[in-house]
Amino acid sequence: MRRVYMDANATTPLLPEVVEAMRPYWTEHFGNASSIHQHGQQARTAVDRGRETMARFFNCHDAEVVFNSGGTEGDNTAIFGLLHPGDHFITTSIEHSAILEAAKRMARFGVETTFVAPQPSGLIDPNDILRAIRPETRLISVMLANNETGVLQPIEEIGKIAAATGAFFHIDAVQGAGKIEFDVRRFGCHLCSISAHKMHGPKGIGAMFVRKGTPVDPLLVDGSHERRQRAGTENVAGIVGLAKAAELAMHSLDDGTIYRLAQMRDRLEAGVLQLPGTGVNGVDPDGKPVPRAANTTNIWFDNLEGEALVIALDMKGVSVSGGSACHSGATEPSHVLMAMGLDKNRARASLRFSLLKTATDANVDHVLQVVPAAVEHLRALSPVAAGTLG
Ligand SMILES: Cc1ncc(COP(=O)(O)O)c(C=O)c1O
Repeated sequence: MRRVYMDANATTPLLPEVVEAMRPYWTEHFGNASSIHQHGQQARTAVDRGRETMARFFNCHDAEVVFNSGGTEGDNTAIFGLLHPGDHFITTSIEHSAILEAAKRMARFGVETTFVAPQPSGLIDPNDILRAIRPETRLISVMLANNETGVLQPIEEIGKIAAATGAFFHIDAVQGAGKIEFDVRRFGCHLCSISAHKMHGPKGIGAMFVRKGTPVDPLLVDGSHERRQRAGTENVAGIVGLAKAAELAMHSLDDGTIYRLAQMRDRLEAGVLQLPGTGVNGVDPDGKPVPRAANTTNIWFDNLEGEALVIALDMKGVSVSGGSACHSGATEPSHVLMAMGLDKNRARASLRFSLLKTATDANVDHVLQVVPAAVEHLRALSPVAAGTLG
């Protein structure tokens, strides 16, 4: 059976160029980048080159790039590394759990958090961030692109608010990296977290932009790695893979790949919306989609259960994600969709289609072929449709 993967926001496969770039650093160039002999120096050179590439990617100085294990670590570092008892923290209610759970933990240490809610479109209003500012606000953290809806947040405006009020600004750019033009100076942030596995690089490696002079305490400590900002023997192959993925991502923005990806996403979306009782999560009051990452659409389907549709599509060879998450065995509707004001049934009956940048028109055709039959079949069976489920 043909299989089509449309869950790129969960993770992406490594591009062949990334695998090739990494391969020597698992075998002949296996050295520890801290060793002074030649094996070590080869590894050090690879780390330095990776840092130069990432500095180009972020548009920052080499010394402002810190390699880490990915998005969760970057998000946690911003919060645990900058906030102290008595500080106030502003974030949004649609962030990834790496931010939300870290904020919850800081409550135990006397840090109060304001969770700014999005508008029904999924956009955060910068004025709501401004209204939340207090004299003791030390950090603002807002994501670049939402992982569930793809909605791109007005981070430049939020960056200006942070600059005007003297707060530090962290961006969780895990889902935006590789999908839009990237420039931390333009974004106006002090910290910015990215992760390789969301942009066709390996899992377990990421990087953080740390603006010079930002007093962020490291999460992990030992010796002198990463200018004392992140302890642990460098993951040399991972760093090489991240840098190669970032280089390819920069090309994809320049050579029209991302533009074509948006066109494919739009065709997929328009095709699915032909079905009655469907709509996009992430639209303005006139029903027009707000700015979104090129690869993502999140669609609600009335009168069915999203989890059943995910399973039905999986059986037809299509991998997508639902608008719900399994916490301790119970299926909870997505906190993002709920924060946007969807009711529980509609939030549960929403699906995220997120295309790989290697997606083809044939992939879209296949999905458009199987979705209508799966939806009609489930609607015929659904207790929601029959009105027997609250
Ligand atoms: C917006 C966002 N932030 C953070 C993360 C966590 O990144 P990682 O998987 O690299 O820890 C994810 C992963 O799903 C994400 O989508």
